[in-house]
Amino acid sequence: MSVIQAPKGTFDVLPADAARRAVLQSHAERILGAAGYRRIETPTFEATELFARGVGEATDIVSKEMYSFDDGGGRSLTLRPEGTAPVCRAYLEHGMHKLPQPVKFWYLSSFYRAEAPQRGRYRQFWQVGAETIGSAAPEADAELILLLAELLEAMAVRDPRLRISSLGTPATRAAYRQELTAFLRAHEDGLSPEVVARIDLNPLRAFDADDPRTRETMRDAPTLLERLETDDAEHFAAVRERLDDQELAYEVDPTLVRGLDYYTRTLYEFSSDALGAQSAVGGGGRYDGLLAQLGGPPTPGSGWAAGVERILLAAPEPPVARLTVDLFVALAGEGATDSRATGFRLAARARRAGLDAQLELAGRSLKGQLKQADRLGARYVAIVGDDPMVSLKDMETGDQRELDPQTVIPTILRASRLV
Ligand code: HAM
Repeated sequence: MSVIQAPKGTFDVLPADAARRAVLQSHAERILGAAGYRRIETPTFEATELFARGVGEATDIVSKEMYSFDDGGGRSLTLRPEGTAPVCRAYLEHGMHKLPQPVKFWYLSSFYRAEAPQRGRYRQFWQVGAETIGSAAPEADAELILLLAELLEAMAVRDPRLRISSLGTPATRAAYRQELTAFLRAHEDGLSPEVVARIDLNPLRAFDADDPRTRETMRDAPTLLERLETDDAEHFAAVRERLDDQELAYEVDPTLVRGLDYYTRTLYEFSSDALGAQSAVGGGGRYDGLLAQLGGPPTPGSGWAAGVERILLAAPEPPVARLTVDLFVALAGEGATDSRATGFRLAARARRAGLDAQLELAGRSLKGQLKQADRLGARYVAIVGDDPMVSLKDMETGDQRELDPQTVIPTILRASRLV
């Protein structure tokens, strides 16, 4: 029989990987907690309609990448491909508009997208994310961007690059799209055939073309930033001023696009060249229309999410922290239940006293047990035999003493100056 493997695009978080994730989690807790963000966890699956309405029917995420299924009762459910729509749903469902605004959330959860797997792109992946709901202030956006920068710095992500832009309102965007389409039609001679073929589908893609002639033509193309309404332009200028004030480096990229439809105004993405093709580490923006889109009262919102695996891929491997073992309880009796009971009791009591303690569980010979204690880096080994006394071996000095079982723990605590 062949051994069953994990599904394509998924991976196991083995104990050594879990340690690095725990470091990320504690940085997120500290950095976001200090700014008033509180953790939220929403269900792994939601009504499919939440993402269709929230993220947008036309996006790749909704049209191609969702794991949707019938729940058996005729309802379509979807494994969450992202966290913003669920957090907004929870905000509305629990009437959180009645709380003092804004309400700040953070999450560290798994997400699901049926994408072609490659380095940094998985079908189940984790995101750390933050959302501020109920504030339209540019400072909310600037705060979020600074917090993500701080988190990436705490994780030592290599060569982070921040690009920001503003999308204005959907109406500005629609008018701009028409203007850009007209510009591209008028300049078809200066564009590559691929770009011309995609004019109606996605005119913005013309800005990403590698073809030199197209790039030359696009230099004269209007940008969305030049077409923002006055208040949107002022909002963007204020976000930039706050970032400048904090000396956070960024590039303004008027052609920045992100794969979700809910964005308005501020838009940004952090990337790292350390990542290769999937270079986006995290991104986000403002979504002032989303809560109303989900049936709630008009409520502004802003947030980001960063890929946990991408952060870890873009950061240097820290030395793997060794498990500490203060006491290894070795069994040297002839298999009599008494010595096994004494050993078990001793290990349990040691843990209650605050020591890291492990008990022999593999039936090794005494020699094998001492070797195992050494491999674990145990500070002390208590050898429990048929004799009522216990031998306590100091693994650093090699000293060995016979002690009453009751005095083993106080002796270790005293020697380690824990009391
Ligand atoms: P997103 O850009 O789709 O945004 O995803 C955020 C981050 O999740 C990406 O930058 C990337 O690091 C990681 N990520 C995305 N897809 C995958 C994948 N298949 N495998 C591994 N990592 C992946 C959002 O999801 C928005 N909800 C962000 C947001 C929050 N906007 C406002 N608030």
